[in-house]
Amino acid sequence: MSRIIKIFDTTLRDGEQSPGASLSVDEKIAIAHQLAELNVDIIEAGFPISSPEDFDAVRRVALEVEGPTVCGLARTVPEDIDRCWEAVKDAGRPRIHTFIGTSRIHLEKRLQMTASQVVEIAVAMVRHACELCADVEFSPEDAMRTDLPYLVEIVQATIEAGATTINIPDTVGYTTPWEMQQTIEYLFANVSNIEQCTISVHCHNDLGMAVANSLAAVKAGAGQVECTINGLGERAGNASLEEIVMALMTRGAEFNATTNVRTQQLIKTSRMVSNLTGFVIQPNKAIVGEKAFAYEAGIHQHGIIMDRQTYEIMRPEDVGLSESVLTLGRRSGRHGLRQRLEELGYKVGDNQIDALYERFLEIADKKKQVYDEDLQMIMHEATAQVPEVWELVSLETTSGGTPTATVTLRKEDETYTDAATGNGPVDAAYQAIERITGISLELVDYSLRSISMGKDAVGEATVKVQRNGQEAIGKAASTDVIEASARAYLNAVNRLLVKENQQ
Ligand code: KIV
Ligand code: ZN
Repeated sequence: MSRIIKIFDTTLRDGEQSPGASLSVDEKIAIAHQLAELNVDIIEAGFPISSPEDFDAVRRVALEVEGPTVCGLARTVPEDIDRCWEAVKDAGRPRIHTFIGTSRIHLEKRLQMTASQVVEIAVAMVRHACELCADVEFSPEDAMRTDLPYLVEIVQATIEAGATTINIPDTVGYTTPWEMQQTIEYLFANVSNIEQCTISVHCHNDLGMAVANSLAAVKAGAGQVECTINGLGERAGNASLEEIVMALMTRGAEFNATTNVRTQQLIKTSRMVSNLTGFVIQPNKAIVGEKAFAYEAGIHQHGIIMDRQTYEIMRPEDVGLSESVLTLGRRSGRHGLRQRLEELGYKVGDNQIDALYERFLEIADKKKQVYDEDLQMIMHEATAQVPEVWELVSLETTSGGTPTATVTLRKEDETYTDAATGNGPVDAAYQAIERITGISLELVDYSLRSISMGKDAVGEATVKVQRNGQEAIGKAASTDVIEASARAYLNAVNRLLVKENQQ
């Protein structure tokens, strides 16, 4: 019988450590709910001691998200572990994950401790965590550059201290599939109490081998894989959840293993994470890239028409790709909208439908055809909403000669109008917004992409802004790209104001 490999999602912890991927607490909660829909086994929701915001996010995931185990990260320090327990203790299934570096370079240069001191601390802190929580994971950080006999010693000691999962991280993405397989096999052969715990693996992607390394660990007996949606994470990222899950599904016989993941939720989860983090998915990214199931070459198209299996090893519907068909238009009613949204997997509350319908009509008025992608965009906008302190009322731009924008904004019940020039219409609109709000921001990043089909496709603008060390991402979509750009900028302004208020 095939083994069930536990999927430990660390998008909200390691994924969020990607420079520039910062998420608000509400966004983390929305992603955590979607991870529960995806049916991952464990959600690592954050690093509670690292900031009050992170603590709050982990605590809210623990309280609000049902299904998966909710885990928090802690260094092997009593205050970290206590704070982590505070954050996760109300989850249906809480877990504390504690870690300390074990490679020679970490011992000597970073920790400045001896190997036996580190074992002593790890054992004491795993014991401390076990007094609080029945489910404790221990990670010897940089395990793949740790001397093997020492790795055996610390793994055995921490299992004896009560750890229920031992995670083997390739912290710097240095290993190869063969080395990983040998390491896991070595642990199974040499750690006498290894059967008392689940062996996990956590691979970074610095050499582009994170998924292959994780699968090699599964082949050697690992029962848990740590990974992130879209492979988000420190530096080059972590192993990509969707690739691991689909590899195990497509090549189950090779691994004699499968997962509990509802694969039909993969696309939706991937797009949600991409939208909220502002990290655009590379078009040819395996499984979730826009082109992952597209056939351009005539010979391939011909084969697919004759029999899909000629060139297709996975069915698009298994990852949640719906045929993008025309379903709705200007004359569709609330009922039709709600039904299609529910078919796409969204739960639509009675109190939500009016606002969603209004936004749908705005798009339907501009486009003849409303596609599933447009509906997904509407839902992402709705889940990522922030209070609209500043709201766009109107925008007029001219681009002949000196580009000029005239902008009217509303704050509370007052409207304010101003005009500005810039080096293009988008820049002019941003200058006018800055004049009205009095909020001066540094624009760190700006991107624009088409998110639906047809000549009248919706353009989505994403901006990343900074002020006083705070960063915010704003997003908006419209068939008019200048309007999308202005709305995205205002969305970022409003997010920044929320963050500043929370501080
Ligand atoms: O990469 C790493 O080593 C980690 C640990 C905290 C597990 O993220
Ligand atoms: Zn990591």
